[in-house]
Amino acid sequence: MKTKIDEIADGVFRLSTFTPDLPPSGFTFNQYLIQADEPFLFHCGGRALFPSVSEAAATIMPLKSIRWISFGHVESDECGSMNQWLSAAPEAQIVHGGIACMVSLNDLADRPPRALEHNEILNIGGRRVRYIDTPHVPHAWESGLIFEEVTRTLFTGDLFTQLGDGPALTEESIVKASIIAEEGFHAMALTPTTASTIRNLKGLGAKCLAVMHGSCFQGDCDSELEALAEYTDQAFAAAGIGSRK
Ligand SMILES: [Fe+2]
Ligand SMILES: [Fe+2]
Repeated sequence: MKTKIDEIADGVFRLSTFTPDLPPSGFTFNQYLIQADEPFLFHCGGRALFPSVSEAAATIMPLKSIRWISFGHVESDECGSMNQWLSAAPEAQIVHGGIACMVSLNDLADRPPRALEHNEILNIGGRRVRYIDTPHVPHAWESGLIFEEVTRTLFTGDLFTQLGDGPALTEESIVKASIIAEEGFHAMALTPTTASTIRNLKGLGAKCLAVMHGSCFQGDCDSELEALAEYTDQAFAAAGIGSRK
């Protein structure tokens, strides 16, 4: 497995590892490195990916300069290698929401994590990272996302997951491909607040959606978010329970 590097926004690097064997058409695992005075890694990748991803990351900056590490929620592809990263970057600290820290990361991380409030901004020097709680979206109680305010990049984690190995960045809508993947995986936790949690991400002013699996999107991000929210609304309603706005 070889990790590809693409700069999807100014100083935002997508480190993408394609695993062709995963059905039906292979699957990408994307980690993101944000260049700043205090460099920020979003998604660690599973432990087996660490050699390839860290080798790629080291071509962008010394690993030991990474200061912050975060991810969407506690799953192996999101954070399996977090302690390998903490070992490679002695000044690095995990940052996440209060629930993730309390429930899992205070125990799982080799060094104590830093808990961020919903909407708290971490000034990392040249870039500003806003942490947003998204409980159970796309799944897992402790879920959260980040929005980098200078490049207006929304890091969507498993939201907008797509199959295959498309371009790093596209201006074509990724909603249809995301729905195809969701109809196969049923990975989203559909709850009365799924759609409203996604809709709450509109209005951030995102220009780019940096996804964990698949192609990133550049363009009208609010329309993409609305279309995905609408899909989850319909899927929830189809379950016959009705939705809370
Ligand atoms: Fe996940
Ligand atoms: Fe994932």
